[in-house]
Amino acid sequence: MSIPLHPRAEAHGKVIVLGEHAVVYGYPAVAAGLPQGIVLEARPRPDPRLPITLTVPAWDLDLELHAGSDHPVARACLEVLAHCDGPVTGWAIHGTSALPSRAGLGSSAALTVALARLVFGPDAGVDDVVAASLAGERVFHGEPSGLDSRVAAQGGVLRYVRGEPPRSINPGAPLPLCIIPSGIPRSTADQVARCRSRLEHLPSVVRPVLIAIGQAVESGIHAIEHGDLDTLGVLFDVAHGLLGALDVSSPALDRMAADARAAGARGAKLTGAGCGGCLLALAGDAPDRLTAAFPSLRPLFVEVAAS
Ligand code: PMV
Repeated sequence: MSIPLHPRAEAHGKVIVLGEHAVVYGYPAVAAGLPQGIVLEARPRPDPRLPITLTVPAWDLDLELHAGSDHPVARACLEVLAHCDGPVTGWAIHGTSALPSRAGLGSSAALTVALARLVFGPDAGVDDVVAASLAGERVFHGEPSGLDSRVAAQGGVLRYVRGEPPRSINPGAPLPLCIIPSGIPRSTADQVARCRSRLEHLPSVVRPVLIAIGQAVESGIHAIEHGDLDTLGVLFDVAHGLLGALDVSSPALDRMAADARAAGARGAKLTGAGCGGCLLALAGDAPDRLTAAFPSLRPLFVEVAAS
């Protein structure tokens, strides 16, 4: 008999509204849970000594989880299972997701949160689930802020500061968010390292950029709570410029941001690690015009309302 798993678990995707990169250094960020996340289903394998398998067709994942595996997702999942005192053999885990992977929408945190919930069950406390998820997230990059895992586990709109309890934010008006995948893969670890190297090279110049991003987050939260979408849009544009100063944007993302503004967005910024991944635009009065401006990129439109 291998250690039991619960039959089903799920977790949210996430989008960072404001504050990426600066959040690694202790400044606040605000992020929203996405209804698109992952559902994991577990069933016992015919022989409990067989390795655990993980298949997520939407993410091209078809893995065996065993100690010799060098696939980062397999290693992350093994870390989560070890953290939770979960099984080492005997299960087939299948995932379904409408979230693109490796696009900065929290796919890895959703996976590790849902996996922890397969072990702990539906009544597990959010803090325990987040701690287990972080054991896996550290495989992907050495210093995760914890934001992704928190939002994947909790959903809603959250103000997050590393090491502090998150605060739920209630939007005064629904946030019309348009998430546009660039289709360009990127590595969070590389992007965090780029930002760190710029900070170490020019600390007196770059530290104020991080502080300004933190200030944009606080102003953004005020705008979200008061339903002031025009100010929030301006803050998106400011944040995109500041992230460019941290060396984490790219010509493709800069072009996409300009195109989104030209198509009526109130503002646009990269979201997540940058240099690829997704653009986040705050739609204006005609969201259809905005999504139609990126026909080949399959934008995701979500209205984030008070939970
Ligand atoms: O992995 P992504 O694209 O969601 O980016 C993570 C956000 C960072 O602030 C760059 C890193 C972190 O751990 O918060």
